[in-house]
Formats: sequence, C-alpha cells, structure tokens
Amino acid sequence: MSKKVLLLGGAGFIGLNIARYLKEQTDYQITIADNFSRGKKDEYLRELLEGQKVSLIEGDFTQPSAYDTLEKDYDQVYMLASVVGVNNTLEIPHEIIRINTALIFNTLEWLKASSVKKVLFTSTSECYAGTIDAFGYKVPTPEEIPLTIQDIGHPRFTYAVTKMLGESGFLNYSRKCGFECTIVRYHNVFGPRMGFKHVIPHLAQRFLAGESPFLVYGHDQTRSFCYITDAVEGTFLAMEAPGSNGEIYHIGTMDEITIEELITEAGRFFGYTGPYENAPTYPGSVQRRCPDISKARKQLGFTPKIRWQEGLKLTLEWYKEFFNSGKESFETSFEKPKVNV
Ligand SMILES: NC(=O)c1ccc[n+]([C@@H]2O[C@H](COP(=O)([O-])OP(=O)(O)OC[C@H]3O[C@@H](n4cnc5c(N)ncnc54)[C@H](O)[C@@H]3O)[C@@H](O)[C@H]2O)c1
Repeated sequence: MSKKVLLLGGAGFIGLNIARYLKEQTDYQITIADNFSRGKKDEYLRELLEGQKVSLIEGDFTQPSAYDTLEKDYDQVYMLASVVGVNNTLEIPHEIIRINTALIFNTLEWLKASSVKKVLFTSTSECYAGTIDAFGYKVPTPEEIPLTIQDIGHPRFTYAVTKMLGESGFLNYSRKCGFECTIVRYHNVFGPRMGFKHVIPHLAQRFLAGESPFLVYGHDQTRSFCYITDAVEGTFLAMEAPGSNGEIYHIGTMDEITIEELITEAGRFFGYTGPYENAPTYPGSVQRRCPDISKARKQLGFTPKIRWQEGLKLTLEWYKEFFNSGKESFETSFEKPKVNV
C-alpha cells in the first residue's frame, strides 16, 4: 500500500528535492504544503506536480486554521517549514521568533490531534555553533554535543533558539502524543535552486560580474559542504529506518575545506586568473564546522557520494545558466560581508 507523505515547507530547496526523490520511488503519495514565502511556483515545482502522485496545498502554517486543509492520517511528515538565513536573523529577528515558533507549536498541536505515524524535524548545525566557539568542542562534531546560545540577546541566535525549541518540542511531544520522531541536523547543504542568499550563488554572481581583485571573506574558516542529493538520501534514510525513532542525526559530509579552497575552485570554474584578497567576514561566524556522521553511517547506512568539487561544478553550472539567461534572482543577493555559510 502506498505511503501518504506530507512535506511542510516542501516547495523550498530541500523539500522540493525530497519530493522529487519520493516521486521516483514506487509507493509514495506526496503532499507539498507551503506559503511560498521562499519556495517558488517555478518550472521545477510545476514539473513535480505533473501526474497523480504529488499535490499542493497553499497556506500560511503560522495560522492554526491552515491545518484544517490537511488530512489527519499521513504516514510520514517532513517538517521543513521555517524562516532561514543569517541575513534574516540580523534583519528580522522578531519575525524569526514569531514565524518559526508558531510553525513548530501549531504543527505539534496538530500532530497531537492527528494519527500521523512519523515526523522528521529539520534542524541545524547552528544549534551548536556556540559550543564550538565558547568551549572549543571537537570538530568533526557528533550529535551528543551540548547545544549553546552564547549571547541570548543577539539577533543572530534567534534561528538557533527556535531550532532548539523544535528539537525539544518534537522529541517530547512525540513521546507523549503517540507519534514517532526523528531529527536531522543539516550541515551546509547546497545545490541548484538553493536560493540566492548563500555563499555559492554569491560566488557565481560575483565572478560573473567580473569582481577583481576577488575578495575572500573569512578565508581560513572551514565548512563541509553536502550536495543536495546526498542530503536528500540521508533525510530519507533517517525517516525510513525502523530504529531511528527518538534519534538525532548529523547529515552532511566530513570533507572539511577552507573558504579559500572553495573560492579558488569556483574561480577555476569561471576561468578567473586575477588576484584574490583576504577580507574579514562578519563577527559571530563560526571558525570551523564539520559534522561527525559516523552515527548516520552506522545506523542508517548513509554514505555521501558527491565530492564537493563535483557538487560545486553542478551548482555553478546551474547558476551560470540562470544568471546568463537574464532571469531575476528572487531574493536580494550579495551584500558584503554578510556571507551566509
Ligand atoms: N539548506 C541548509 O543547508 C539547511 C541547513 C540547516 C537547516 N536547514 C533546515 O532545513 C529546512 C529546509 O531548508 P531549505 O534550505 O529547504 O529552506 P527553504 O527556505 O528553501 O525552505 C523552507 C520552506 O518553508 C516555507 N515556509 C516558510 N514559512 C512558512 C509558513 N508560514 N507556512 C508554510 N510554509 C512556510 C518557505 O516558503 C520555504 O519553501 C529548514 O527548516 C531549514 O531551517 C537547512
């Protein structure tokens, strides 16, 4: 029998790719619910909606009434809806708090009254960025790291505060309210159609605009970039694995690289031969980030397959074509030095 799946926030970057992946499998009936505050009604969504397997519900799920449009008996719910992005935390921190907590609380209350079997909540490495900075915790970083907010009043931490609420909320409602729950913490997922407020689309835009010397913000900071198809597979495995109830998984790769390496590789792609110049990134950006994914490997059989260079090439090709086609980016793009990594 086919499984009924709801993707809340499913028109966004990761959600749309999970929906595509599920559509290719034999037995999933997929519903995407989104308010299109970030997800787009573009050709990729239209293509996904072709046929009988995927349907769309449009609504603002910060409103409890929006949940009346959903069914009550999904086998699986992927909870992806959220306001994301470092720029947003700095510009609209009060909205991050309002929207993300409302989405979490309303979804939990709806789950309490429904017969959904399993939920996956999407969290972030930002929840422990403060632990690395304040306490020098180990990198690569495993799931049991304590979560830290270094400065409770700083707008930057609003996103992490809401994701911590989500982790605690979903795990604890799940135990009391009769549904299973798994948390994934993503680590720098990237790929085509990821939006424009991220270091990789910024790079494409800046190289195409002919910036020279090319400024390298936070050159010695490290990240590990996870290509979207690997992130989707890890998420799917976390949802499907019978033993994953109540567990948290770090989803990413252990290929830790510097921002300088990332940028010079992108420069090679664009044929840039000019000089590079190091520049400071904005304060509060974590110096090192790399997940330990041993738990996901062992318990889920998660094996990232796309090396960062290959993923970068695929992503830059997409953005190059996008910008060269004259299409408008659907978000404000590069504003130095708010580099969102
Ligand atoms: N992309 C990453 O590297 C990354 C890293 C860490 C965590 N995450 C988490 O994974 C999830 C998906 O991330 P993404 O990169 O696809 O982000 P995204 O912004 O592309 O997707 C989020 C979706 O939620 C929708 N949404 C927002 N408010 C809503 C509302 N009130 N009602 C209904 N829908 C609403 C947006 O329109 C968007 O389509 C998010 O929860 C994010 O916090 C992503």
